Amino acid sequence: MAKKEEPSNPEIANVPKHIAIIMDGNGRWANEQGKPRTEGHRAGARTVRQVAEACGELGVAYLTLYAFSSENWKRPKSEIQALMTLLERFLKSQTKEMHKNNIRLQAIGRLTDLPDKCQRALHESIEQTSQNDGLTLILALNYGAREEIIDGVRSVLRHVQDGLLDPAMLDPQIFSKHLYTRYYPDPDLLIRTSGEMRISNFLLWQISYSEIVISDKFWPEFGKDDFFKAVEEYSRRQRRFGGL
Ligand code: IPE
Ligand code: IPE
Ligand code: MG
Repeated sequence: MAKKEEPSNPEIANVPKHIAIIMDGNGRWANEQGKPRTEGHRAGARTVRQVAEACGELGVAYLTLYAFSSENWKRPKSEIQALMTLLERFLKSQTKEMHKNNIRLQAIGRLTDLPDKCQRALHESIEQTSQNDGLTLILALNYGAREEIIDGVRSVLRHVQDGLLDPAMLDPQIFSKHLYTRYYPDPDLLIRTSGEMRISNFLLWQISYSEIVISDKFWPEFGKDDFFKAVEEYSRRQRRFGGL
């Protein structure tokens, strides 16, 4: 029997340098299958591998994935625990593979509020992949854009107090250097799965001029082909940044 053909790596003229994704719909996908929500999260982790692979094929430089928001602590304890366990397992089982694929792992968010085990696994993976120069995969964990902006303001105030910054010099470029994302360019493309038309406190500062693509697919069923379609849609857009 013929094997299902792998979606081919399309010829895309204009590949985004940085793609950010709000990975949404794990719970609804599981619900549709009559499975517990945690199964949706497990299936979602498989999509992460697929999408990271697709980014490697296209030559995308940065991929930021919204994995756990500041507001997700509102969920039942059991779901939070399942998500944290899944994160730890993902890091432990995927680091070798990431390293082999020349992926450099990074993380943004208030990481010190994550369970100790997750923090340890995270720092180990970051350390082990730190010399890689392929795709930079950035996990947003306990991430909230408003919290990030407040942490940025605090950092600016410290610099002013220490006499390192003249408040009159503060501008968007300098402020960007006080955010968690200071080492990365702004996302060119923002993708959200599961059809929701909202930002949910993700990268509010950085997406000022990002192109947005919403997919109706739930994250666990979002395949490489859907990802390539989103990037193709991006490459057809005309970005003007307020100019002509
Ligand atoms: C996204 O899927 C994963 C996280 C937010 C951790 P959801 O868990 O939000 O799934 P839905 O949106 O309830 O279907
Ligand atoms: C956004 O999804 C957060 C992540 C994908 C981690 P949510 O499911 O938490 O967002 P809302 O509640 O639908 O806005
Ligand atoms: Mg959701």
